[in-house]
Amino acid sequence: MSDETLSNLLTENRTFAPPADLAADANVKADAYAAAAADHEGFWAEQAGRLDWAEPFTQVLDDTAAPFYKWFVGGKLNVAHNCVDRHVAAGRGDQVAIHFVGEPGDTRSITYSDLKDEVSRAANAIEELGIVAGDRVAIYMPMIPEAVVAMLACARVGATHTVVFGGFSADALASRIEDCNAKLVITADGGYRRGAPSALKPAVDAALEKIDNATTAIVENVLVVRRTGQDVAWNTDVDVWWHEVVDESSTDHRAQAFDAEHPLFVMYSSGTTGKPKGILHTTAGYLVGTAYTHHAVFDLKPETDVYWCTADVGWITGHSYIVYGPLANGVTQVLYEGTPDTPHKGRWWEIIQDYKVTLFYTAPTAIRTFMKWGRSIPDEYDLSSLRLLGSVGEPINPEAYMWYREVIGGDRCPIVDTWWQTETGMMMISPLPGVTAGKPGSAMTALPGVGADVVSEDGVPVPNGSGGYLVLTKPWPSMLRTLLGDDERFVDTYWSKYKEQGWYFAGDGAKKDDDGAIWLLGRVDDVMNVSGHRLSTTEIESALVSHPRVAEAAVVGAADETTGQAVVAYVILREGASAGATGEELVQELRNHVAKEIGAIAKPRSIMLVPELPKTRSGKIMRRLLKDVAENRTVGDTTTLADAGVMALIAEGQKTST
Ligand code: PRX
Repeated sequence: MSDETLSNLLTENRTFAPPADLAADANVKADAYAAAAADHEGFWAEQAGRLDWAEPFTQVLDDTAAPFYKWFVGGKLNVAHNCVDRHVAAGRGDQVAIHFVGEPGDTRSITYSDLKDEVSRAANAIEELGIVAGDRVAIYMPMIPEAVVAMLACARVGATHTVVFGGFSADALASRIEDCNAKLVITADGGYRRGAPSALKPAVDAALEKIDNATTAIVENVLVVRRTGQDVAWNTDVDVWWHEVVDESSTDHRAQAFDAEHPLFVMYSSGTTGKPKGILHTTAGYLVGTAYTHHAVFDLKPETDVYWCTADVGWITGHSYIVYGPLANGVTQVLYEGTPDTPHKGRWWEIIQDYKVTLFYTAPTAIRTFMKWGRSIPDEYDLSSLRLLGSVGEPINPEAYMWYREVIGGDRCPIVDTWWQTETGMMMISPLPGVTAGKPGSAMTALPGVGADVVSEDGVPVPNGSGGYLVLTKPWPSMLRTLLGDDERFVDTYWSKYKEQGWYFAGDGAKKDDDGAIWLLGRVDDVMNVSGHRLSTTEIESALVSHPRVAEAAVVGAADETTGQAVVAYVILREGASAGATGEELVQELRNHVAKEIGAIAKPRSIMLVPELPKTRSGKIMRRLLKDVAENRTVGDTTTLADAGVMALIAEGQKTST
């Protein structure tokens, strides 16, 4: 973030007090902060009371092997029972759990009773396919109810799922299947995107071929939902249709209780090296944390609210705030399959109008896109049902905040800007809508039961008005437990920088304003945030270098009006490798190559073919300078460059290519 943006942010002085009616009836009031601060474990033990326990826990927090914390020791529960069955048992079986809206216009409303039957059938079916507690299951699905059912079926039988975003490539899927040793893949023929069927099964087939599944037989079965009806290749040894096995299974399934620390899921996320990290979340703490924060931050009234989170289940936001937190709270929610502009740019607002959505959760990148399309589009719809708006994924700039508040929220809905991470599992820094005044651009303060601070390099909390690194100072129930198969990387990445203090290092820069409110300033490592999704510079560099024409590559995240950051790559071609495409054609080929290796989301916005890269005398690429070029700024201090002439060459090339 540039100094200019930073100072703009910090001179922002508008505040919006909570609406009086919401404040009067809020689920969580101001006293929660003091209660949680006075008795951290007692506070979380009380929140654990939101769940049905098959066996009570005997200890709230075991920190003897910190940072390998354990929560709710000795307790047992079943996650699917908590998200589904208990609502039916409580007489709420006829309440709609999911209003599904397919992109082509098909709709289904699924009650909690329906969901219980469907999850039970799917649980029986995957057990029939040989899945037992502790097995791993990869899920690669469009945004259809079966994705939610598949996750809950895994949770029900104690299998650990890893959901791979449907936009990821076959290669990315293969590396995740291999890393977690998935025995089963659940997928669909395809899903609808931008008005057309978009295939998924071929990527699963390619992934299995890549890991040479015929020989190694990691994956025993692929369970395929028929969504689009498009043609699929079929391997009768492995492939099974969902409608043939799930629909035929019994709706009777006894959910066994699992230990509080039983692994629930692994979510892969980009780190600072090329290899994605398998972030592990476990059973009870994760569900307590997501259920509590969903109740508190959205002020959820499950009998009357209609909730809609626009994330994909392939990301952590979908896990925590479509599937686990909301369903544990017995929510009625909308699930939408497609893109916001299909078949028209008012699709989201039409859905809000049709389903009378009251609580809406989306990302700044989406808001900025709608801003670009103009307010006349949302103005055509009745959005008066909305009572609260949420934002997640990246800092929301004050302009986008104000537009969201005025145009979507009718100047009446509070906005909760929620800071959290795949690792934290739950929201950590956010206003409480009935308590905290909102400032455009600030996530405000740590939630009750959460400890957050902004500290200097050497671990001293900074005074108000200053910036530093964001740390989390207290363990929290839904914290990641480790990185799958790599305890050392887990300790190194998060717990070594402030080892003495025992703080979690979030990797984000932040600033406290004069009132002590926290403003997030973006990543401090080589991780980019594109449309609220984390991408690693190294991972994209490795993808580029894997192309036969590329000798070396450097990638930076450059500020982008819509996506927050955009991927910009600088590439040196191999000498003598002159055969094949050149110029613009080669650039396209390289962009497509990255999409094939990682996924379309990682495609560079631009690629510059350069003769040299700026390096220090010790050979380290100075990405800071490349970022200056990408953001059209005067290039900063070049005195540590081994060859000071390099930047002039690159800047010259940039001018001629734009
Ligand atoms: O840099 C922060 C940014 O997103 C990172 C976490 O990315 P991921 O694990 O993919 O999870 C995204 C959804 C929770 C953080 O380190 N980030 C997330 N939310 C915010 C944010 N930055 C500023 N404000 C936010 N509200």
